Amino acid sequence: MGERDALSWLDDIADARRAAGLHRDLLARTPGSSLVDLASNDYLGLARHPEVLDAAATALRRWGAGSTGSRLVTGTTAEHELLESELADFVGAESGLVFASGYAANLGAVTALAGRDALVVSDAGCHASLVDACRLSRSRVVVTPHADVDAVASALASRTEARALVLTDSVFSADGDLAPLSALHRVCREHGAVLLVDEAHGIGVRGEGGRGLVHEVGLAGQPDVVVTATLSKSLAAQGGAVLADRRVRTHLIDTARTFIFDTGLAPAAVGAARGALTVLRREPERAAAVLDRARDLARVTGAAEPESAVVSVILGDPQVAYDASIACRERGLHVGCFRPPSVPEGTSRLRLTARADLTAADMATIASVLTEVLSSAVPTGASSAVPTDDSAARV
Ligand SMILES: Cc1ncc(COP(=O)(O)O)c(C=O)c1O
Repeated sequence: MGERDALSWLDDIADARRAAGLHRDLLARTPGSSLVDLASNDYLGLARHPEVLDAAATALRRWGAGSTGSRLVTGTTAEHELLESELADFVGAESGLVFASGYAANLGAVTALAGRDALVVSDAGCHASLVDACRLSRSRVVVTPHADVDAVASALASRTEARALVLTDSVFSADGDLAPLSALHRVCREHGAVLLVDEAHGIGVRGEGGRGLVHEVGLAGQPDVVVTATLSKSLAAQGGAVLADRRVRTHLIDTARTFIFDTGLAPAAVGAARGALTVLRREPERAAAVLDRARDLARVTGAAEPESAVVSVILGDPQVAYDASIACRERGLHVGCFRPPSVPEGTSRLRLTARADLTAADMATIASVLTEVLSSAVPTGASSAVPTDDSAARV
């Protein structure tokens, strides 16, 4: 028998993905690129801010390139602890705990607070990191229709488990819409459940001076609300955090596997996040500017009035969305292109993210490029029958 190529199935799948317009390309950024950025998560325009870079460099020189170990061993510096208390203070939480990424913060928080004797109720639109956290939780998981508070209430009412945890994004990453946080919290209170809110896209954009949607709706500091956050979007760095009651922090230090078995966040990222937070505190108007620019983007594209930095232009077919994103790029605009499995079949889209530092000249380029590209991109409802990996599937 001749030798067989054990990886030939990957070629078949890659060909099918390409034929359906579902392949992904890595597009390296080049220094000094003149592309207008409508694809990144640098909402406040702080990733290259001199104070942020200085804070990163100072931490790097003081503490070294890496954190050198798990947070429980050598990976905690005074800089980590300062960032934790500054973040907690900013969003109005009792305590903070920094993780190596927002993904790790979600996995760590959910798995440590759930378990076999807990019910987890998760919104169908939650980020992939919360979906994966559900899978790792060993809990019974109920996925409720998007933003359906009644469905959450009935899942909680019929539970037999001792404890319950309800998961939601505050700002949903694909559509940019807001979770009904006040109603969800009322239902959680009624049933003795903890509400975990992923504020990845809320901090820096929603709430007074960018304190997030939990703060905006008056839930900051409630002991039954756990906030998770990323440092990689408005805070222009990298890393994640859980901002919650002090007992939650203590429990996570002892039990969260992505905290214990992962190297602590690199000092330069910690310094950068602290620098970004300092700038945001001093210049709270940056948060309002993001929403203003998002409204400008919606006007240009005919998208619905945005509630966050995310403006989605649904084109339907993945190939149409991909071609439109390439056409934008060729004309000087870097836009996001979301296709299944990141979004449901038939809703492939250009995903635009507003930044506080977009200039009038940027907005003029944006208007002319998007008007031209979208006038020739014919939206369709077509969807592909090609199997996609299920990395964002709903548990
Ligand atoms: C809603 C949401 N949660 C969590 C994450 C993960 O954050 P990080 O990139 O820091 O791992 C992201 C980022 O992509 C996100 O959009």
